[in-house]
Formats: sequence, structure tokens, C-alpha cells
Amino acid sequence: MDLEDTAARLGVTVEEVGRVHRLAGDRPSAPLPAKADAPAILDRLGVRPDDAAEVVAGWPDPGSPLWTPELRWLLDRSTALVRADLGGHQWLPPGPALPRDRGPAWRHLYVYAYLALVDVVTNYHREHGIPDAVSWTTLADLGRNLAIDRRMNREGWPVMQSWLTLHTRGAVYELGRLQHHRGDTALSLHIPDSGPLTPQAVTASLDEARAFFPRHFPDEHYTAFSCGSWLLDPQLREYLPEDSNIVRFQQRFELEPHEEQEGLDADVEVRRFVFRTLSTPLEQLPRDTVLQRAVVDHLRAGRHWYWRRGRFPI
Ligand SMILES: CC(C)(COP(=O)(O)OP(=O)(O)OC[C@H]1O[C@@H](n2cnc3c(N)ncnc32)[C@H](O)[C@@H]1OP(=O)(O)O)[C@@H](O)C(=O)NCCC(=O)NCCS
Repeated sequence: MDLEDTAARLGVTVEEVGRVHRLAGDRPSAPLPAKADAPAILDRLGVRPDDAAEVVAGWPDPGSPLWTPELRWLLDRSTALVRADLGGHQWLPPGPALPRDRGPAWRHLYVYAYLALVDVVTNYHREHGIPDAVSWTTLADLGRNLAIDRRMNREGWPVMQSWLTLHTRGAVYELGRLQHHRGDTALSLHIPDSGPLTPQAVTASLDEARAFFPRHFPDEHYTAFSCGSWLLDPQLREYLPEDSNIVRFQQRFELEPHEEQEGLDADVEVRRFVFRTLSTPLEQLPRDTVLQRAVVDHLRAGRHWYWRRGRFPI
């Protein structure tokens, strides 16, 4: 195939197409579920009706004029690339960020890859004895992310398309309030946008994980819970009350010394998670909560937020 031509037609760089070509090679892809089953599957994956309607409308039917040969190639090879790393736990971009305003096939290409991998990953879960309820709760993060991306006027997706490959590779499990991400020696914690982060809910989720991982992944030996987040920035304590859920969450961790992380601007990440917009000017952001006022005042004072990592023993 002609990588340059494919890249030009997809509106991305030749390096990005070359990466997919190299990582996927001729490894097996996975078929999409039947279109007739899509509504039920999307519902199980927590996809809201407006997003589900778009996904069904752009479905890669064999003769669909929405699907050019380049898009079909990318869907097939992206699925193969992610599938080849089943069981892996590093962040893995499934392919280049696409110009999504070109239509539903462009907008949701990586959603179709996710749907193709649902069978693959649920089989993997079953081999590890993971209960169906955990599989589906975990995989329903797709619907949550699509809804957030819609709220964000589609600004959120470039990160989400990589994040969601953790789910389809069996790296992340949602156990109660938290998502637990397998690693080398630490389970890394992620906090979905699903209501308050009460200490009780956090403790219950940690307890669940303490039983879950030895049972389902007996060859892996975890010694700590870890987390990397804007939520761990100690500067938040200048603004939030001591008994707020965020401060109480922070108190569990021992922080690592601050290090800049390449490609990660915490000021942008805070805007993502506190305002669900990356492009609204500071002076137009809402000031409805203590945290929203804190974030804006801090940035207006010329200060910055930091992405911090911390851990505590299992
Ligand atoms: C993590 C999270 C659940 C904490 O919410 P919480 O349990 O309400 O936290 P706190 O009790 O510490 O909240 C203290 C104050 O900040 C506000 N606040 C907390 N998180 C907020 C958010 N994401 N956006 C706006 N305001 C928020 C609360 O409303 C409260 O203000 P108020 O007293 O004026 O109502 C919430 O921030 C969230 O859903 N974040 C999105 C997901 C996320 O950031 N994950 C981590 C990614 S690295």
C-alpha cells in the first residue's frame, strides 16, 4: 500500500499511518458485531441514545459509501494493533487522531474498533474468571466517555481514544467507585466522573481490588496503589476544606517529587476535568463551585496546576 497516499486521504501524517502499518503488520483483526445487535450492545456499553444513533448511522456496512478504502484499512489495522496487545497495560494510541468533522465514520472509527474488540476482551475476562458484571461495568466506560466528549463539543476524544484501549486489552477494571489499572508492581487508580468521591466508596473499592487481583491475576504481585492526577496537587488544599473528598483522597497518598511529564499540561487537564472544555476563555468559565472558583483564580494569578503522582501500600 502507499502510505503517503493513505495518510493524505486520512488527513494525518505519514508517520502516524506508518506506525499503524508497522504495529499491526498482518496480525488478525476482529469482526464487528452484527448491525442488528448493535443497539443492544451499545445499551450494555452505557452509550446514550443520541450517541448510539450516530454510531448506528455510521455503521461500516460492506457497501456503505461513508467508508472509503482508507477508513476501512484504518479500522481493520487499528483493531489488529490493539488486539495484538491483549493483556498489555501501557497507554496505546490506536491510531492517529482523525478529522472527525468529516462525518460519522470519521468521528467514530475508534468506537467501531472498540465494538469489534468487545468479544475478544470478554473472552479474555472469562479466561480469568472475571464476573460478567465487572466486564460490562468496566466496558460501559465507552458510553460515559462519549457523553463527556459530546459535552466537551468533541474536544475530549483524542485522549479518550487511547484511554479506551486499556479497557479492550483487559488492563482496567471498574470495581465500585474506582477504576483499577494493572501495572508492574502497582495498581494505578483512575477516578471516573460518576458522582462524589466519598472516603467510604474509595475504601470499599480498594478492598474490592485487594481481593479481585489475587483471585483473577494470581501471577501478578501488587505492593502498592498509585495514582497520577491533578487531584493530587497539594495546592488544592489552599482552596478546598479539609473535609472535602478531594483533600481526604489526597491524604491517603505519599507524593513522589514533582516531575514535568512530557506532553501533559496540568493547567489543560484541570480545565478538562473541572469545566469539560479546553477552549473557553478563563473569564467565561463558570464559578459555581469552590473548586471552579479556585481553578480560575489560581490561573488568573499567574500560577499553575501540577500533575502529581503518589502511592500507598496495598
Ligand atoms: C473527583 C471528583 C469525583 C471529586 O468530586 P467531589 O467528591 O465532589 O469532591 P470534593 O468533595 O472535594 O469537592 C469540593 C468542592 O469542589 C467541587 N468540585 C469537585 N470536583 C469538581 C469538578 N470536577 N468540577 C466542578 N466542581 C467540582 C465540589 O462541588 C465542591 O464544591 P462546593 O462545595 O462548592 O459544591 C470530581 O472532581 C470529578 O468527578 N472529577 C472528574 C474525574 C476526574 O477528575 N478524574 C481524575 C482524572 S486524572
